Amino acid sequence: TLLDVVVEHDLDLDGFGACEGTLACCTCHVILRKSHYEREDKLNPAGEEELDLLDMAPELNDYSRLGCQIK
Ligand code: FES
Repeated sequence: TLLDVVVEHDLDLDGFGACEGTLACCTCHVILRKSHYEREDKLNPAGEEELDLLDMAPELNDYSRLGCQIK
């Protein structure tokens, strides 16, 4: 997942992935580019639990995802 990449590369993103991918926080909220969605073979679709949690994300938009769910 994108969260795994952040952890594996020890990227300094304060608070990112607080729940370690258990779909309990929204701190891994990212806004992708439209082009990422146009390449469906490269982006797994958001699941129902992810979409429910995204509703609580600040600055939510049509290109929002949770980084811990992007494979
Ligand atoms: Fe908590 Fe993604 S790390 S929802």
